[in-house]
Amino acid sequence: MSMNLHLRIWRQKNSKAKGQFVSYEAKAISPDMSFLEMLDVVNEDLISQNQEPIAFESDCREGICGACSLVINGIAHGPDSGTTACQLHMRRFKDGDTITVEPWRAKAFSPIKDLVVDRSAFDRIMQAGGFVSVNTGSAPDGNTIPISKVHADLAFDAAACIGCGACVAACKNASAMLFVGAKVSQLMHLPQGQPERQQRVQAMIMKMDEEGFGSCTNTQECEAVCPKEISTRVITELNREFVRAQL
Ligand code: FES
Repeated sequence: MSMNLHLRIWRQKNSKAKGQFVSYEAKAISPDMSFLEMLDVVNEDLISQNQEPIAFESDCREGICGACSLVINGIAHGPDSGTTACQLHMRRFKDGDTITVEPWRAKAFSPIKDLVVDRSAFDRIMQAGGFVSVNTGSAPDGNTIPISKVHADLAFDAAACIGCGACVAACKNASAMLFVGAKVSQLMHLPQGQPERQQRVQAMIMKMDEEGFGSCTNTQECEAVCPKEISTRVITELNREFVRAQL
């Protein structure tokens, strides 16, 4: 059975223009559609009426690229925990529901158009982190580099971060500590991450501050909305790494 929904969507021509919510009707939506497929249907309707489609970002549509940055009913990536907006299904909503859709809002993520914001500050933090030293020659066998199961798991959990920015969007301070913590943690637990360990954490924190992200005040909203369920233990590790590097 299909659904009809009322949408309130943030429309903004460009970074300078004043944005506002505009109402739309999404008709005959299948509960099996993803949230982005529902927006596709609305856009097809708009295009058929010679109206400007709603700009929103997506790429993989399978929860791995982090492009689908939408705040749905006030929650980054919507109501399902551990789920990106592209993996959210319309069966999560009821026929006749009103759904409000907004972009990430943070000083460091400037608006581009409608629901699209500029998240390149994350790329610049990664660039500041620099490279990982490796010896040239053929790749060594995996089992010649001993890594304990505990450290392998900690590194792997942190490496699940897809850099979507939901942590920043959910934080009242627009802090990027969960993101930076994940990127630092994924390398600090591995032998390959050791040579540049101290420079990396200092450079990334410096860049994070320079880009205008706020400070962490332990509200843990970031962990609650993270579609990859990254734990705030990476923030603890980031703080510890930073102090260690300073010393
Ligand atoms: S579009 Fe890639 S994670 Fe949603």
